Amino acid sequence: MSKAQTTASPKRQLNKSHSARTKVTREARAEYIVTPRVKKFSECVLGLGKFTQGDCLDVLDNLPADEFVLAFTSPPYLNAINYSQHIDKIKGQVDYWRREDVSYDEYRQFLIDRFTALLRVVKPGGYNIVNISPVGWNGERVALPFHFVSWMEQIGWKFKEDIVWEKSIARDRRSGVLLQHPYPGYYYPSLVSEYVFVFQKPAAKKDRENIYWNRSAEE
Ligand SMILES: C[S@@+](CC[C@H](N)C(=O)[O-])C[C@H]1O[C@@H](n2cnc3c(N)ncnc32)[C@H](O)[C@@H]1O
Repeated sequence: MSKAQTTASPKRQLNKSHSARTKVTREARAEYIVTPRVKKFSECVLGLGKFTQGDCLDVLDNLPADEFVLAFTSPPYLNAINYSQHIDKIKGQVDYWRREDVSYDEYRQFLIDRFTALLRVVKPGGYNIVNISPVGWNGERVALPFHFVSWMEQIGWKFKEDIVWEKSIARDRRSGVLLQHPYPGYYYPSLVSEYVFVFQKPAAKKDRENIYWNRSAEE
């Protein structure tokens, strides 16, 4: 490995892995991290709107600044699901998928790049709603949502609300251990909820309090 490669910043190293994508197996690296950042996405018009499919970073980079009032997203939760193999599993083509090998720093940078790009296209006073949850990683439960809020504040998003999404169909029996062993050391709460955070793009008072204040009668 050359000196330039060894001293590259984490972002440069990520780009390096983009160009070397053909050598990287699905199992070895996260598909969404190694997806090459080329201006390549497809669009499908639906009524007055359209669907765009591609890496959201490419898509966002091609959208106008200060345009959108609301973004709603559920980003990948670290390596909680291997999306490249998830569909194969649903189709019954594989019995299980392997967790992807992503460093926490790579994952943090992945999110920061994309939520920075999102900040540019949202109108001042506009909102960004994000669903995220703690995940099991390297044998530990990681406080991902709590780290995430701080990353978002560093990018420039203003934290507004935290909503707890109670997942009525979630089934988790971790708390059952306490029934078998009724001692404090055996307490594991069941995991049946996730977070939904509301962020706002900083704005002058009028836009901050009501982004629609200057709407025309037709709008
Ligand atoms: C937590 S899931 C959210 C699923 C979504 N709520 C749904 O109902 O389809 C994260 C999704 O982000 C997608 N994804 C991963 N990396 C992406 C990227 N760079 N750009 C756009 N989408 C990405 C994954 O394929 C996955 O569908």
